[in-house]
Amino acid sequence: MTLYGVGLGPGEADLVTVRGKAVLEDADVVYSPGRLSRTVALNHVDESKIGDLDFPMTKDEEKLRAAWKEAAAEIAPNARDGDVAFVTLGDPNVYSTFGHLRRTIDAFHPEVDLEIVPGVSAVTAFATAMGVEIEAGAGLSLREAASGASPTGPDRMILFKVTDAPATHEGLVEAGYDVTYGRRLFMEQGESVVTDDPADIDERDYYTLAYAEKEDLEVEQATAAFGTDDADGSEDAATDGEPVTDGGEVVDLERATGFEGGDCGGQR
Ligand SMILES: C[S@@+](CC[C@H](N)C(=O)[O-])C[C@H]1O[C@@H](n2cnc3c(N)ncnc32)[C@H](O)[C@@H]1O
Repeated sequence: MTLYGVGLGPGEADLVTVRGKAVLEDADVVYSPGRLSRTVALNHVDESKIGDLDFPMTKDEEKLRAAWKEAAAEIAPNARDGDVAFVTLGDPNVYSTFGHLRRTIDAFHPEVDLEIVPGVSAVTAFATAMGVEIEAGAGLSLREAASGASPTGPDRMILFKVTDAPATHEGLVEAGYDVTYGRRLFMEQGESVVTDDPADIDERDYYTLAYAEKEDLEVEQATAAFGTDDADGSEDAATDGEPVTDGGEVVDLERATGFEGGDCGGQR
């Protein structure tokens, strides 16, 4: 029998994957490490199936290890007799509490099978919520910016745990970044905020991230030619004068422009 780590996505009930929902519906017990993940899980399973686990808000590693051992000891017998799920917001493998549980189960209950169902992570959801495009070929770094920290270096960064936005903002602007903040993105609980003014979000809320991009970053997209060559010449720019039509139908961009690559590729 199996312990499933299920990613719930950023917080809206219908952003749980089809597979994640099926696993939750089939599980005998669904463990949740916190109030928000519990609320999302309750959209998919009856409250009688929810098993709450208590994790202390502390950095004391001894206390944390004790809590993880206790949680693993509670979960393991149920995972031997049936299927159980442990839910986390976002993806279970991205900055997640599930990692601690997985390692503790591996160490003390190696007979338990583990499977992970990925979820929509804030690492990717932020792009849609904040109208950002990470174009093919671009780099993107994930960092933490807790307690006013301002990590710098990469051209583009997504920063988690932005708990003191004004202080983080100061350091980032000084280092030459444009910054946008997103709070409670795609989340049913609380108000979603997208802003580039840190004063709008000066109250601490753990579910806050930032996207920082070097202000002098120059991105030359092949599609820029559509807007510049001539007023209606978007097709000409892409096809050396041949219209981008095929018997009256607009043909796909890949053929028209010579873009190559699969779902994640293509040249700029
Ligand atoms: C411990 S990490 C968990 C990440 C999660 N496992 C994921 O894949 O999205 C928590 C941080 O992720 C960011 N975060 C997670 N969900 C978010 C959301 N819906 N809106 C804004 N930020 C979010 C916040 O920066 C928060 O401090």
